[in-house]
Order: sequence, then C-alpha cells, then structure tokens
Amino acid sequence: MTLLKWKNHHIQDVEVNLLLNALKERYGYDFTGYARASLKRRLLALTHDFEVQHLSQLIPIVLYDEAVAQTVINSISVPTSDFFRDPSVWYYLRNTVLPRLASFPRINIWQVGCGYGQEAYSLAILLYETGLLKRSRLFSSDINPLFLDKARLGCWSVRHKQQWNDNYIHAGGMGDFADFFIESETVIRIRDEFKQPIEFIQHNLVVDDVFKEMQLVVCRNVLLYFGNALQEHVVNLLTRSLERGGFLLLGRGENIVDLAKKHPQLTLLDSSLQLYRKRIGSS
Ligand SMILES: C[S@@+](CC[C@H](N)C(=O)[O-])C[C@H]1O[C@@H](n2cnc3c(N)ncnc32)[C@H](O)[C@@H]1O
Repeated sequence: MTLLKWKNHHIQDVEVNLLLNALKERYGYDFTGYARASLKRRLLALTHDFEVQHLSQLIPIVLYDEAVAQTVINSISVPTSDFFRDPSVWYYLRNTVLPRLASFPRINIWQVGCGYGQEAYSLAILLYETGLLKRSRLFSSDINPLFLDKARLGCWSVRHKQQWNDNYIHAGGMGDFADFFIESETVIRIRDEFKQPIEFIQHNLVVDDVFKEMQLVVCRNVLLYFGNALQEHVVNLLTRSLERGGFLLLGRGENIVDLAKKHPQLTLLDSSLQLYRKRIGSS
C-alpha cells in the first residue's frame, strides 16, 4: 500500500528548495549547489523510507528532530567507497605520480571526501609500499562528522575483503592485502601504523577554505554530486590548495567539460584517469 502511494510520486522543485533551506538555516549544511537530478532521486527514496506522501511533509520533522535531519544529511552525502577503487588509477599513482613526488623532502596529500576512510587508508598503504609514508602528511576530510568517526575507527565488514584484495592486486599491490589488517570473524580493522599518519578533519567544500601547499590532492567521486557552479568553486579551491607542479586527481567518471580551459593553471595529464597537474609557471 505504502509503495503504491510512493510509486507515482513526484518531487516538486519548491519542496526541494524548502527542505534544503531548512537544512541550511537550521543545521548549517548547504546542499543548494548540488546536482538536482541525483539529489531528487535520493530525496524521493527518503519519502519512501519515512513513508510520507510528499517531501514537504519531511520539512517540519527535519526542523524539530535532529536524528531525522542527520538521516537526511547522510543520504545526501553518500559515503560509498572501496579500497583501491578503480585499480588502474592506483597503478598509475604508484608507478608514475608517486615517483615524481619522491624528490620532495615532505609530501603533503589532501584526500577529499573520505566517506568511511577506504581511500585515505589505500593511500597510506601505497605510500608505505613506495617507501614514502614516513615523509608524508595525509589530510583526509569530509563534510559529515559521522563518516569521519567511522573512518577514524578504520573498521569494515569482512565481506568486502575479497573484492578489496582483488582491487589491491590489480593496483599493483606488492604484498598480501590481509597483512594490513587485523581480522576477526565479522570485521577487518586497519593496523594502527596506517592510522597514525592520517589526520581526519571535518571540512565542507562549499564554505571552508583551502589546504595549503599540497603536492597531491585526491578528490574522487565528490564533484559528480555537485552542480556546475559548485564544481567550478571546488576546482578553484583544490587548485589553490596545490603547490606548483602538484597533482590533482579526480574520479574517473568526473569528466568535467572544459575543466583545464576554465582553470588555466591546470594541465590535463590523462583524461581517462582525470589527472591534472598545476603548472610550474603559474602564479
Ligand atoms: C561517494 S563518496 C567518495 C568517497 C571516495 N572519495 C571514493 O571515491 O571512493 C563522496 C563523499 O563526499 C563527501 N561530501 C559530500 N559533500 C561534501 C562537501 N560539501 N564537502 C566535503 N565532503 C563532501 C560525502 O560525505 C562522501 O563521504
């Protein structure tokens, strides 16, 4: 019955605007610049979960019930991730990008949008295997404090292990993936030595400032949730965070039209990997 009610239901723009304004005014989360189509899909799913006929019915609940608001925020900020997601990208990082960073006495890396931490720990493993971990500072950020808590914990269901192991091998992994974890019947927990070099920080790309003097910025599968104007703003922020000659890695599916044209400080190194470099001569 509930499903039938929900099935033909449409969300109106005015309801989306009102809900986003409620989240912004009441909780300080500004999702107004996010891409509307995918946002609407997720909000429609929420009307199903909460069994309301119209999205607008959620607005008063969101205003007065922080737990519901958090559920809405969580569903907008999608933490989906994997260890060594898109292994060929990691293979390239290992064999081409990191050797170029090896000459720096100190390597600063900003990993943006960490979800539950898999990408940050993948970087730590890669740096360890290339002998660069001790010289590296890894900043890993996300808008969502609950995701950051989970990332700090470094603990995931054991059922992902096989797939992550396969990714690691295809990424050119040199050891045994299981060696980086302590395993119990239900979970795998990252070893402490890979936690220590990572600083998990709450940072909102919409309103917060740059990270300074980064040699590598990894921002994958975040921009695809943003509208054009917000993408522009964020690419600017990421570019300003890079040192000259530093690398910017976006998600493979994030083929942002004319990015290098709109941001002349960046050179596209590889379009299939979405890897850019900040020009040495740029100011
Ligand atoms: C799909 S996950 C990507 C995880 C990882 N980068 C990867 O590619 O596997 C997107 C992450 O971006 C975060 N995010 C969304 N909006 C953000 C914002 N305005 N500022 C910072 N992080 C944001 C979400 O909370 C989520 O954890």
